[in-house]
Amino acid sequence: MELKQDSDNNVSYEALELFQPPTAHEAVFQQALERALGKISALVPRFGLRNPRMGIPGTTRYAFCIPDEWVASFWCGQLWLAYSLTGDPHLKNSASMRRDYFRTVLENPRWHDHDLGFLFSLSTVADFTLTGNEKSREMGLRAADFLAARWRQPMPFVMCWNPMLRDGPEFMKRKTGTLNIDSMQAMALLFWAARETGQSSFTDIANMHLETSRQYLVRDDFSSYHAYEFDPRSGEPLGGFTHQGLHDESCWSRGQSWAIHGFAQAYLYTGLSHYREAAAGMADYVANHLPEDGVPLWDYNLPADETPYRDSSAGAVTAAGLYTLARCFGHGAEAQKYTALGDKILLGLVEHCDLTANADAEGLLKEGAAFVGLGRAENMLPYGDYYYLEALMRSVGHTEFFW
Ligand code: GLY
Repeated sequence: MELKQDSDNNVSYEALELFQPPTAHEAVFQQALERALGKISALVPRFGLRNPRMGIPGTTRYAFCIPDEWVASFWCGQLWLAYSLTGDPHLKNSASMRRDYFRTVLENPRWHDHDLGFLFSLSTVADFTLTGNEKSREMGLRAADFLAARWRQPMPFVMCWNPMLRDGPEFMKRKTGTLNIDSMQAMALLFWAARETGQSSFTDIANMHLETSRQYLVRDDFSSYHAYEFDPRSGEPLGGFTHQGLHDESCWSRGQSWAIHGFAQAYLYTGLSHYREAAAGMADYVANHLPEDGVPLWDYNLPADETPYRDSSAGAVTAAGLYTLARCFGHGAEAQKYTALGDKILLGLVEHCDLTANADAEGLLKEGAAFVGLGRAENMLPYGDYYYLEALMRSVGHTEFFW
């Protein structure tokens, strides 16, 4: 592998040597993938233009999004992935018909936050990638412009959350200067825009955001803070805290998963070795805190007296991230190690949380934990479904995604 040293900042860039090692459970994962594809096709007429929001507690039915929901693109992303495998025009039509909704998102700047990444990578970028639709490309680029414009000096990151009246004065103030770990996936939209336009400013902003995330969100033991507060006037770092995890110093498992997937993805875009090292260290932390059955609990530091809710969505994002990370190690021994860890988690999901064989279920996975502090646990979640599909595809060797 060729290494090159950047004399200014001592960062090493690597020539990518990519290889996806085979899974040890190909038949099981291929069958689950085929069941998932069958279910997605069957749900197209049932969902129509509605986008799943969260499972209705105690059922296998979904409640659906109202406008301005961060989860609005995960069904669309499943439609595009399923179309990429099957070529079924019904899937393409159903996904394309959602373009008007995403146009509405662009037209409402008050709805814009770091979730522009999820919203547009899985809708218009996916559309352009698979069909070459120019309107979708334009919309993806506009979304990337809006996301990049959320970098406001002196902060060394793009602003993540928007302060809202409903947050109360304290959290509202805090949100103004906060970097969160959920934004890790959003950087792919900026890297994509840089490739499409040749404008290096997109890459510079993404790298700045990722580097700040690496320095402040990732702790020395490779666990992570959900969020980190900075002084909005000076940009001075103030401290880490949680919003959806157990407590400020614990490790929220979905946050950890966003970072593993996000750093592995960033390595593929940039070849910057410290992104791969961050993803690998965080994956090793998961390996040391994973329940025997392979499905993460909602926080990796849950004491025995807390209800051990699983978060299947954290498992799905982590598994997809681990296969991505394994690919980043070429033929190295680490590739086998992270594939084996991805296999353990994905097998745990197939054995304990999979709904693909349940004809009545509107989702692919049960037992997601959206926000335990607000009582949202044991739900189907559209992002759990999307990343489960992505993880199943990656496990059997697919490498073309929308980030
Ligand atoms: N807001 C992103 C998450 O709940 O993971």
